[in-house]
Amino acid sequence: MASSKGKTIAIVGSGLIGRSWAMVFLSGGYKVKVYDNQPGQASRAITDISRKQVEELQEAQMLRGKLSATEQLSLLSSHEDLSQALEGAFFVQECVFEELEAKKSVFQAVEKLVGEEVVLSSSTSCLMPSNVFSLVQNRTRCIISHPVNPPYYVRLVELVPHPETLPVVMDMAYELMTEVGQAPVRIRKEIDGFALNRVQYAIIAECWRLVKDGVISVKDIDLVMSEGLGMRYAFIGPIETMHLNAPEGLEDYLRRYREGMKRVLSSFGPVPEFDGEAAARINKEICELIPNDQEHLSARRERRDQLLMGLAKLKK
Ligand SMILES: NC(=O)c1ccc[n+]([C@@H]2O[C@H](COP(=O)([O-])OP(=O)(O)OC[C@H]3O[C@@H](n4cnc5c(N)ncnc54)[C@H](O)[C@@H]3O)[C@@H](O)[C@H]2O)c1
Ligand SMILES: *[C@@H]1O[C@H](CO)[C@@H](O)[C@H](O)[C@H]1NC(C)=O
Repeated sequence: MASSKGKTIAIVGSGLIGRSWAMVFLSGGYKVKVYDNQPGQASRAITDISRKQVEELQEAQMLRGKLSATEQLSLLSSHEDLSQALEGAFFVQECVFEELEAKKSVFQAVEKLVGEEVVLSSSTSCLMPSNVFSLVQNRTRCIISHPVNPPYYVRLVELVPHPETLPVVMDMAYELMTEVGQAPVRIRKEIDGFALNRVQYAIIAECWRLVKDGVISVKDIDLVMSEGLGMRYAFIGPIETMHLNAPEGLEDYLRRYREGMKRVLSSFGPVPEFDGEAAARINKEICELIPNDQEHLSARRERRDQLLMGLAKLKK
């Protein structure tokens, strides 16, 4: 079993996701060294993490891990120098802008500064491992660890290997993510959108078509998810749902619903353009429910995070 004792993880890029990863790894007892190429950004990240952990998480009794907030924060440091940040790390989590060229050059620079055994991990949401790691010489230790925002409450991590990634590297990342309390899944080969975004975009596309075609309102399609499908999807996936929804399990479900599913699926429209008159109309409808000024958006984001915190508690 992996043990965090005295082990170091380096975070490269300390924006929203870099900060979240730092908090997750600290909760597992790892030493976390944060680097950002924008001067002052890494130390601002540390101030932000300290405030969140000490004030908000501890108060809400949502601080993860066995260590107190003070103990966790004593494992955290910021660095203005990349080589200093990487020193002693066995795992590097990259969290820079979602730009291919930025990621490629970051990994090229990182590889020159670390030993062969150090695992290089990227947070990219939609870039392919073959592209992200194309300037790395030894790609056998490269992997994508794609988190979901906010990772502290939404624990899924998609692990996506480069075609050359060693199985032992995948296993190591899986074990690390499990140990720090995340919920890793293995994507067995690289594919555009990984699994989460492919499913998410399928849902978005059909919701969009239904609203665009005047079948349902924006308010009501969102309720179809939040009061309907979403209620069970927080605990039970679509395949288990099929298995439980017929008296004799999956095969029984298929016997009953196969033809109906195929009929409905073949009536789906083409990929939406997501622009023009439909986009203007859907935007107007959502803005009537939630005006798109900072005040309203922030309030709704806060509400979302509070609700996710409650759900995370419930799932525990
Ligand atoms: N925000 C999300 O919801 C989300 C979810 C999953 C994955 N991701 C992925 O995480 C990554 C980071 O996203 P974010 O939302 O934290 O972005 P962000 O803009 O908040 O942070 C990026 C940080 O990287 C720093 N940076 C840029 N170039 C750098 C370099 N060459 N070296 C060091 N630091 C550098 C920036 O100064 C900034 O602090 C992206 O690849 C994104 O796709 C984001
Ligand atoms: C490449 O990295 C792997 C995994 O860390 C390591 O086992 C191997 O020795 C490295 N290859 C070379 C040529 O150094």
